[in-house]
Amino acid sequence: MNESIKIRGGRRLSGEVRISSSKNATVAILPAVVLASEMVKLYDVPNIEDINALNKILAKLNISVEQHKDSFVIDPTDIKNVVLDGEEVRKLRASYYFMGALLGRFKHVKMLYPGGCNLGPRPIDLHLKGFESLGATVKTEGDMIEISADELIGDEIYLDFASVGATINIMLAAVFAKGRTVIRNAAKEPEIIDLSSMLNKMGAHIRGAGTSDIKIDGVSRLKGCIHDIIPDRIEAGTYICIAAAMGDNVTVKNVIPQHLEALLSKLEEMGVEMEVGTDYVKVLSADNLKAADIQTQIFPGFATDLQQPITPLLCIANGVSKVRETIYPERFKHCAELNKMGADIVTGDAKATINGPVKFKGARVTATDLRCGAGLIVAALMAEGETIIDDAYHIYRGYDNVIEKLNLLGADAE
Ligand code: EPU
Repeated sequence: MNESIKIRGGRRLSGEVRISSSKNATVAILPAVVLASEMVKLYDVPNIEDINALNKILAKLNISVEQHKDSFVIDPTDIKNVVLDGEEVRKLRASYYFMGALLGRFKHVKMLYPGGCNLGPRPIDLHLKGFESLGATVKTEGDMIEISADELIGDEIYLDFASVGATINIMLAAVFAKGRTVIRNAAKEPEIIDLSSMLNKMGAHIRGAGTSDIKIDGVSRLKGCIHDIIPDRIEAGTYICIAAAMGDNVTVKNVIPQHLEALLSKLEEMGVEMEVGTDYVKVLSADNLKAADIQTQIFPGFATDLQQPITPLLCIANGVSKVRETIYPERFKHCAELNKMGADIVTGDAKATINGPVKFKGARVTATDLRCGAGLIVAALMAEGETIIDDAYHIYRGYDNVIEKLNLLGADAE
């Protein structure tokens, strides 16, 4: 697939943009439906490619998904545990949540290794160690992985790194394990709290999500539920960067500002003036931005997923900014693309040095991954002339109706 997005830059943006539900919560919540014995209704599922890929996997498992205008009704009552070896598994990282969910429900899962954005090495050793601690055996053969257990028994699991994926996968596998599972040094991201609150509505017994100790007391059955997914903090952060770049009083709605504290305080430090409401952020002005240093960290630190969208703002800021990646040391492919548009960024050693201010010029660039694509959109909106962003399918994986949302704000994108 080689779809492209064309943006003619330089237009001021105004008005409101409504943020969709969280991609990274939804991609955990859909596989979690495997654990239910009854129907689950989810409101406001985002219209993004990653969800389409997960729906294909649900169909393979004989789980029906009815898509209504504002909700998905998912019926897992006739689920069949089949080998997941289709291309859709490789399309996204989150397909690995079927490992935890199917292992939890059937004590057996066989599937391909997951795909997802190429951000450098993305091992899943912590997920597998967690499954083994619960009593499972893991076998790998080429690209296939098979995990099985006679029974799953709760255990105390210490994560060497507070991995989002490993925390979620262990939660999914442990819901039906006998006794208590404790995940120590668990990830604290809001998407984990959202998944835990959905599982608890279904009858699970999970305490401590959002802290570094999560306790799961095994139950024998989960019922259905109705769940509203939290807003996407990364989509929100991206539009706040867009508003800081080109906005005249743009309001970003359906936001949980507490999920964005690290970004908002960094933007404030750079000189962006904002009004922060209970569920919105309005960007009032962003003139003469100051350079700033950023270090990506696990939540509530500065999100790695917002490192790429904020980089164009650092490029137009006065002075030298430094970015250090502590989550994905190789997540800097956007910098070479931004340099094609006039940026002056030097990368190496998990760091970027950004010399500003520069003026962006339209160019032909490539979205090498999802958030790189988001960064290129921010730059393209500011650029003089036309920018073509190739491989835009990466962007559609995570940004709901992006062209429509940009044009509603007054951009010229197609
Ligand atoms: N890691 C390991 N071993 C593991 C698991 C992770 O070494 O078993 C390392 C990774 O290699 C990486 C770090 O730990 O260096 C962080 O990985 P983590 O498991 O926390 O990330 P993830 O679950 O693979 C999720 C999001 C990412 C987001 C990260 C960090 C989903 C589907 N993906 O990935 O989102 O960047 O957490 O917050 O939830 C995106 O949306 O663009 C995206 C990449």
